[in-house]
Amino acid sequence: MDFGMKNRMAGILSPKDGRCVMLAVDHGYFQGPTTGLEKPREVVAPLLPYADSLMLTRGVLRTCVEADMRIPIVLRMSGGTSVLKEDLSNEDITVSTEDAIRCNASALAISVFVGSENEKATLSNLAKLCDDGQKYGIPVLAVTAVGKDMVRDARYLGLATRICAELGAQVVKTYYCDKFEKVVAGCPVPVVIAGGKKIEERDALKLAYSAVRDGAAGVDMGRNIFQSRWPVQMIRAVRMIVHEGLTDDQAWTELQKMVG
Ligand code: 5RP
Repeated sequence: MDFGMKNRMAGILSPKDGRCVMLAVDHGYFQGPTTGLEKPREVVAPLLPYADSLMLTRGVLRTCVEADMRIPIVLRMSGGTSVLKEDLSNEDITVSTEDAIRCNASALAISVFVGSENEKATLSNLAKLCDDGQKYGIPVLAVTAVGKDMVRDARYLGLATRICAELGAQVVKTYYCDKFEKVVAGCPVPVVIAGGKKIEERDALKLAYSAVRDGAAGVDMGRNIFQSRWPVQMIRAVRMIVHEGLTDDQAWTELQKMVG
């Protein structure tokens, strides 16, 4: 890897332990004012001290984040559809790489929809973005999106993550599943997990713990943090699991102490 690529990767995955707590607040790009994220500025500011990187769109970055913050930016590069559509897979690249560079992006994030009608288009877009990423030394985070009819099992997620890595992504985001260790074993680049829909805090901590225990490099978590009753305490507890080796039980105990 060239210096720029290595240096940016070091902002995404900690050089100390190879892990990350990426805070995802990009949901508005297809969901509009997602619950808990109606006012991104107010939501993001208190969480930033505990995030290793921040995943968001250029619109929210430019309007809701102070430019003097030092957290690496994972810029969402794909979009073009909304929750009003049955099929969300019809995405395109919606940001130029030049603009991502102007935003000082440390990584470029793009969704791919393996097995969907638009599989080929989204995979071609991933490949194009990886070419740009190589050209400018910016890692690409491939987001394996799962359509409504697709099963989130190790076979499917293993297929999707491996394809993303083969096409050149430096990091792949997917979902936790049974036999997740097989997904990780089949993917030659680090795998991080999405938190998914809001679940009980205790269960979200278990999800984070199970994922890192089974080989995930960390989390790219959104709703289970910003929709939590205790967003700051929740991200801190997730950090304890990802970076400090706490179990979910231990992190839950710490979270309860923090919330009194
Ligand atoms: C939306 C995304 C989200 O950033 C990702 O799913 C992580 O957020 P959450 O933990 O809420 O699932 O990529 O397409």
